[in-house]
Amino acid sequence: MSKRRPLILGNWKMNTLPEEGRLVARQMVPMIRDGLHWDLDWGLAVPFTHLGALRSELEGSGMMGAQDCSAHLQGAYTGEISAGSLAAMHCSFALVGHSERRLHHHESSSTCGLKIDRLREHGLMSVYCVGETLEQRQGGSFNEVITSQLMEALGSRIQDLNHGSLAIAYEPVWAIGTGLTASPQQANEVHAMIRAWVAQNGGANMAEQIRILYGGSVNASNAKELLACTDVDGALVGGASLKARDFADIVLSSVD
Ligand code: PGA
Repeated sequence: MSKRRPLILGNWKMNTLPEEGRLVARQMVPMIRDGLHWDLDWGLAVPFTHLGALRSELEGSGMMGAQDCSAHLQGAYTGEISAGSLAAMHCSFALVGHSERRLHHHESSSTCGLKIDRLREHGLMSVYCVGETLEQRQGGSFNEVITSQLMEALGSRIQDLNHGSLAIAYEPVWAIGTGLTASPQQANEVHAMIRAWVAQNGGANMAEQIRILYGGSVNASNAKELLACTDVDGALVGGASLKARDFADIVLSSVD
């Protein structure tokens, strides 16, 4: 069991219409509130279009977040959403560098670094996602892949960040949406490696405090075992976060 305050986040991706999302959140919030007898942080990263509808549902209970933000402050960037707008919509965090954005939108780790800057400037926490593909796992290069994702996005700015402005999510690409999960040992090993990188580059204090989440086919049956690992401080949950009961059970399993 990690000694840090757990952080359990859902990632709704491009699922639900705003009104459907509102109804899911409306069911979920009391399930979590009524079962919770311990301090933890939880939240949902929802589509931009849902932010207005979900604010009042989550207020006072869960954190509301976005799944991405622009690397730019403002200007002629058609279709982009600024960190300033996310702050104005009462988001408290955003995902950065999710593997689906790296894959489908060719997002690089250095661009992720700029997004982290924009979010920090507006007081939002970045949840920076890293992780290897199946080939990289099988080829044994996953440590180098993850280290370069950390170095390129965080290397020059980790001193400006703290555990309130940065969390890291380890999401092996081969475990996302596939039903395959890293074993608790595999997850904890990578989390410990990430924490060692943070210690080396950001100092022992930051390494002690930063929350490192595991993501990739987390569900109500495997969450407890993953969250029991000493270096796993929470979870980033995709598919299972769309079901109120399942996500509530995952959140609650992090503390009982
Ligand atoms: P999954 O997605 O839980 O559906 O595997 C996790 C994620 O992509 O964040």
